[in-house]
Amino acid sequence: MVCFLSIATTLRAWEGNVLISTPNTSIILSATEGQQLRFSYFGERIEENQIHQVFDSWAGFHRPAYPVFGTSTYEISALHAVHADGNQTLDLVVDKVEQNPVKDAILTVITMKDRVYPFTVKMYYKAYQQIDMIETWVEVSHNEKKAVVLKRFDSGHFLIRRADVWISSLHGHWGAETQLESEPLVGIRNGLGDHSEVMFSLDGKPQENSGRVIGAALCWSGRTKIRVDMDDTFGRSVHSIFAGMNEEASEYKLEPEEVFTTPVLALTYSQEGIGGASRNFHRWARAGMVHGCDKPRDILLNSWEGVYLNIKEPEMDQMMNDIASMGGELFVMDDGWFGRKYRRINDNSSLGDWVVDTEKLPNGIQGLTDTAKKYGIKFGIWIEPEFTNTKSELIDNHPDWVLRAGSRELSCGRGGTQVALDLCNPKVQDFVFHVVDTLLANYPDIAYIKWDANGELLNYGSSYLPKDKQSHIYIDYHRGLVRVMERIRAKYPDVVIQACGSGGGLVSYGVMPYFDEFWVSDNTDALQRLFIQWGTSYFYPSIAMAQHVSASPNHQTGRVVPLKFRFDVAITGRLGMEIQPKNMTDEEKDFSKKAIATYKSIRPVIQYGDLYRLISPYDRKGVTSMMYATEDKSRAVFFVYKMEQFVNQLLPRIRMAGLDPKKNYKIRELNVAPGANPCFLNDRVFSGALLMNTGIELQLEREYASWVLELTEI
Ligand code: DGJ
Repeated sequence: MVCFLSIATTLRAWEGNVLISTPNTSIILSATEGQQLRFSYFGERIEENQIHQVFDSWAGFHRPAYPVFGTSTYEISALHAVHADGNQTLDLVVDKVEQNPVKDAILTVITMKDRVYPFTVKMYYKAYQQIDMIETWVEVSHNEKKAVVLKRFDSGHFLIRRADVWISSLHGHWGAETQLESEPLVGIRNGLGDHSEVMFSLDGKPQENSGRVIGAALCWSGRTKIRVDMDDTFGRSVHSIFAGMNEEASEYKLEPEEVFTTPVLALTYSQEGIGGASRNFHRWARAGMVHGCDKPRDILLNSWEGVYLNIKEPEMDQMMNDIASMGGELFVMDDGWFGRKYRRINDNSSLGDWVVDTEKLPNGIQGLTDTAKKYGIKFGIWIEPEFTNTKSELIDNHPDWVLRAGSRELSCGRGGTQVALDLCNPKVQDFVFHVVDTLLANYPDIAYIKWDANGELLNYGSSYLPKDKQSHIYIDYHRGLVRVMERIRAKYPDVVIQACGSGGGLVSYGVMPYFDEFWVSDNTDALQRLFIQWGTSYFYPSIAMAQHVSASPNHQTGRVVPLKFRFDVAITGRLGMEIQPKNMTDEEKDFSKKAIATYKSIRPVIQYGDLYRLISPYDRKGVTSMMYATEDKSRAVFFVYKMEQFVNQLLPRIRMAGLDPKKNYKIRELNVAPGANPCFLNDRVFSGALLMNTGIELQLEREYASWVLELTEI
């Protein structure tokens, strides 16, 4: 037992080792006072009396847990600081270790101090006691005479034994977000694309329900970097994984006494393949990393693809009436409702001027919330508060409130005029808070906000930040955003807020604790959504994934897809519609009404169930399939989609997952297409064992045919 360890729980250190455990996983750190902190193990749960087995079997890494730059320059570092006197090196040793219970978790804090400089690093590991997730982050501070410049500041670092390790990551662009890529992990990689979440399959090619997997999510909405180094020194080769804010153009001048806190790096480990790691992420998300998961999500109609910017009171009334009569619960008025001096007729003006355009909406927002009430539904509204247009009253009055590179001309985004507000500036933070506060205080019936963000931080310059701290922009902007969200959530905990970063390409656990859901993609094409939603589901739970039924031909791809297939694809997440109902036939409205009623009956299974992915669309087997099962395995909903049709096509037999082999389940086909008969499995009873081991045969003989099967324990 090391004497400097303060213990407030049953967790104890063993011979200088710190054991950090969740129900099924453990990390072991070797923390001896006066020595470098070492990362020794990450894998299945180890009990205290088994720690020595990890070392005896040579399974321990025993490498620096948080490598710092300078004294061992052969190592890639997680932290690089330049001291006030210009010295570029750090040499950190363990000072103390504390383990204490906090809400739902055990928090381990390891304080490290530089041997020479008054420079302190605290490493935090928060191990959930009901969920297999360990969050880690770092706090840096110092007492030097002048500021210290932080050049690199990773949130965490861990190791994986080199073997047949595969990496799965998400890349994407507008309309083709979260495209999944899995490839063998070799060599060094920098900047893994758009998403700051990644999975490592330790036993070769990723398998859904078997094999060891480490999942990592960096919880930061700004620029991130995940780096993988390959180290063959000392005979035992490892991959060294570093994850943190992207330090490029972002060196940070840390003042004496100031504390620099890195974002959280969330780590999970599963022996149940990629699927097991996903389910851990989903549980963790629903336990607080996504806001408001205690409430099931409403079925909505969003006006965007129905009317785009042509918001008008009669159309809003008609759309509310239509969604209400189809059984929907919420109507969301999208872009186009605002602007006084500059009206929002197209996308080149008015962002920032959040006042109603009374030519379009003579009775204002109050008129709309009254109408929603009349139809018995809730009302939601679109805003894009982090941005403005050069044609806006806001920029006329506050030209210094936007990010701007000194006297250079502004680089503009959407509409040729869109620019980002300078959220580093507390006055701008106040403004953004007041946009939301004013709307919600004046119209307490607003139940939902769609918070859009269709742009990049293009102009690298802040008139608020001092000259020598311009390189803080990417960091301070996102800290400013989080500050605003904290204020909004303190006052309005119950309003549902959607994060819409021009589609889902920008979703991040850095902001999801404040947002209830996110718009998965601007691409609503059902076929392409199967790929996008599949990738997104690696890390994000269904309850947070906004999935809308839209028109056919689809507005993004022109694809013609049956309404049933569009519904069947959308109902795997938070269901919505994004369509002009007045252009639908009566038969289509009738089908939609039934599909919405059906969704209500399975909503708890979809929004709170465990996800089991069965056949990937990326495997090009002609079909893709997934299912949700309740934790007690008494109910499940199974989905299969035919993606292409060939004569004499070999389709796989699908083996289900997540059921109880000993239980018997009755199958009922849901959303049967108008005029069609239910499939041959309908009304039959099968054991969980048969469904999972032998599997089911498919009879899907048309492109875009699909089945939704409800399984109920009998
Ligand atoms: C981009 C969003 O993703 C769309 O859904 C829509 O809200 C538009 N912006 C509005 O400008």
